[in-house]
Parts: sequence; C-alpha cells; structure tokens
Amino acid sequence: MSEFFNTLEKALLVSSVDETIEMTHKAFELSRNKTPFIESSNRIIKPIELVCFPDKPLCVAPRDLPRRRLGTEAGKRSFIHAIAHIEFNAIKLALDIAYRFKGMPEQFYMDWVYVANDECKHFQLLCNHLAHYDCKYGDNPSHDGLWSMAVKTENDLVARLSLVPRYLEARGLDVTPAMLDKLYAQKDTAAAEILEVILEDEVTHVEYGTKWLDFVCQRDGIEREGVFFENVEHFLKGQILGPFNKPLRRRAGFTESELSELERLDKRKSK
Ligand SMILES: [Fe+2]
Ligand SMILES: [Fe+2]
Repeated sequence: MSEFFNTLEKALLVSSVDETIEMTHKAFELSRNKTPFIESSNRIIKPIELVCFPDKPLCVAPRDLPRRRLGTEAGKRSFIHAIAHIEFNAIKLALDIAYRFKGMPEQFYMDWVYVANDECKHFQLLCNHLAHYDCKYGDNPSHDGLWSMAVKTENDLVARLSLVPRYLEARGLDVTPAMLDKLYAQKDTAAAEILEVILEDEVTHVEYGTKWLDFVCQRDGIEREGVFFENVEHFLKGQILGPFNKPLRRRAGFTESELSELERLDKRKSK
C-alpha cells in the first residue's frame, strides 16, 4: 500500500485526537506531492468497525444531552463543544471517504484529504476557543449521529456522497446563519468569526459532494437527482428537515429542481 493510503489508514485507526490530526496533516502533505499516492488495485481496506475514536467524549443518546441555551456561559461552552465534536467526526468522515472507495481519479483523494485538513482547522479553532471557558474537547457528553451514517454507507459511494456531504454537511449550511445571528446579537464576535470561517469552507465540502456524485453517476450511467432522493429517502426514512439555505446550496451545486423536491419532502410532515 502506498504511503498515502497507509497514512490515511493510520489516521482512521488511531483513537488519539492529536495523532488523528498529525496523520491527517501528513496525508494532506503527501497528497500535494501527487506522485506517491497512486493506488494498487489489491489494496486491502479494513472494515469500518475498526475506525477508532477517543474514549472521551462519552457517547450518549441525543435526548440525554444537556440543552444548549446560548444566553449563559455554560450554554455557550456546551454549544462550542458540540460543534467541536461535529468537526472531529467530520475529520474521520473525510478521511474515511478517501480511504474506503477504490479506483477513483487522483483528484477525488486530493479533494477529500483537503476537506479533512479543513476539518482539522475547524476543530482546532473551536478547541482554542473552548480553552477560554476552561474546557477541553471530551469534557462534555456527545452523540455519534454523524458517524453512524458513515457506517450505514460503508460499501456504497453513491449513498455516502448523497448522505454525508450532500445531506448532513449541507444541513450545516442551513442552520449556521441563524446561529451566527444569535452570536452577533450577544456580541460574541470571537465565536461568530470561527463559525463564519467554517460556513464558508463547508460550501466547498458540499460542492465536492456534488462534483463527485456527478462523476460517479456519469461514469455509471445513473441519473443524479433520482439516485440522490432514493438514498435520502431510504436512509432518512422521511426525516428530511428544512428550511434550506438556497443561496448557499446553489453555490454547492444543488439544482432548482433538487431544492424544490427537498422543500416538498420537508413540507410533507406538516400535512
Ligand atoms: Fe467543518
Ligand atoms: Fe465539512
């Protein structure tokens, strides 16, 4: 196995936060050198169950998480911790898509390691901010909703691209502007500035989801919109949540007809 894929594997199989970040940076550097990461067709991929996470945060059901009220210091701390947890999971998610799916063009691997590197930056910005609250990553309980979608789509790249970058990460584009409004209203500009950086980078991550879903669909003669909604319906079982940030989703490659179909599926609940 080339050093690039070997590094990706190590980054996924280590549980330590620091080592995950160190290995991600190394994979990113290797991907910039271009030549060393041509893959061999006999590369053996470890099952997703072997991917490791730190012992802390403690994993609990979403309903057991403390409510986050941004008006209090404790609320702000748990809000920032919750986003840091999403970002740490996002590092592993981006590493996993680059590691797990064979036979794609070099640019596919470069793009997802670029995303993993961005997620490390987001995570570190939030951890530095948490230090102001005398808190570190792992101090609060969290849930594993994001990673469970990676597990469910272990063997299916079309499903992975539809559900992870184009659904879960795209939800970030929908919900972050309202969080920013609240932070600015409370004059928490330090936290707001971090979220602004994250929001802008996330448009690119969702756009890569669109780009590579397009690629696989064209290669395999599949119709993108149909397969995207089939997967969304299958894995989310009707739990499609709006409202949708149309301007940012358009920048990330959503078509007008995809946006209206999402709205129709969201409204279905209120009927
Ligand atoms: Fe992120
Ligand atoms: Fe992301």
